[in-house]
Amino acid sequence: MSDIDKLTKKGIQNIPAYIPGRTSESVKEKYGLDKVLKLASNENQYGVSPKAVEAMVQAATEANIYPDPFCLQLRKKLGKKFGFDESGDNVIISQGGCGIIALLGEVFITEGDEMICCDPTFDAYAGACRRNGGIVVKVPVTKEQLYDLDGIFAAITEKTKMIFICNPNNPTGTAVDSSALMALIKKIPKHIITVVDEAYIELATDPAVRSMVPLITEDLNLIVIRTFSKLYGMAGVRVGYSFMNKELHATLQKATTVFVAGRIALAGVMAAMDDEEFVLQTRKGISQGRNYLTKELTAMGWKVFESHTNFIYTDSGLQTAALANELEKYGLIIRGNFKYSRITIGTMEQNKEVIEIIKKVISKGNVPKSEQ
Ligand SMILES: Cc1ncc(COP(=O)(O)O)c(C=O)c1O
Repeated sequence: MSDIDKLTKKGIQNIPAYIPGRTSESVKEKYGLDKVLKLASNENQYGVSPKAVEAMVQAATEANIYPDPFCLQLRKKLGKKFGFDESGDNVIISQGGCGIIALLGEVFITEGDEMICCDPTFDAYAGACRRNGGIVVKVPVTKEQLYDLDGIFAAITEKTKMIFICNPNNPTGTAVDSSALMALIKKIPKHIITVVDEAYIELATDPAVRSMVPLITEDLNLIVIRTFSKLYGMAGVRVGYSFMNKELHATLQKATTVFVAGRIALAGVMAAMDDEEFVLQTRKGISQGRNYLTKELTAMGWKVFESHTNFIYTDSGLQTAALANELEKYGLIIRGNFKYSRITIGTMEQNKEVIEIIKKVISKGNVPKSEQ
């Protein structure tokens, strides 16, 4: 153990170093390609709202001035939009959805606390728990890649501090039955904080996939996470927001970083909220792309799990890492480090290219079958 290791908190010593995904540049260089399609990080391929860009350019001229320290204007705007009173005291702004996940770990998880989540799900929950000495309790999804809500309830112990429900879930793309989730949330004991991560819910078009925001009341320890990274196409700007009751809010607002969002970011996301045309275009494009990719991949004999997000989770029957490697040679980057393949939905032009590249790779027959 090095001297620095000895100085470092145990939770941090134990976390693995972050391994970044492959960049377009590295794939271009490796295979001598002019063009690469990176559909591995669930970014919005429809770009950014032009109104947000205009507001950010304008705000850049005032970058010498500190921003609103507590993001109050944005909190009020979001509170009003989601049916809370206009105090802003039900809303926390964070550095992306990842920011609030880390903050929740820091504020609530102590040595030996348990955090329940499904498996597979978004990695950040486990990271936030382990960094603070907590224990991650994983409840596997079903064969159909759906939540096992009974399994989650059964995993609760005296030590459970937090439950994360990602709805719709990353990487499976599937959604939880909303009525069943509501019933679960209502019966979770009071010593537990329930966090529902709705990073992708605005991209779901099925009316049965419902937000848990209306469930927020003073007597439920419920936090609902949202982000400007997906529907609004602002992943590079790093703004997330969460809803909760006022008591939880007071604690988290006290703990969060002052000036958590910069002047340019705040101006951009507030303008994006008012750009309904961009939002409609993204929703429509993602929905069409989702139908198209589902239809094409299913026709190839791949199993596509029902997606309510801007990505597709699919069992090709082939080894996922090997498939991702082969696709990269033809300029397509997808995620190949889960049990099945995860492909971000792009514009229709990109989606057509995805299918062409996949067909080309399959026809070569170089990817071994999976052993499952
Ligand atoms: C389920 C889920 N939650 C939260 C996030 C966080 O996104 P961001 O920090 O960009 O808001 C992501 C990002 O991919 C995600 O997949």
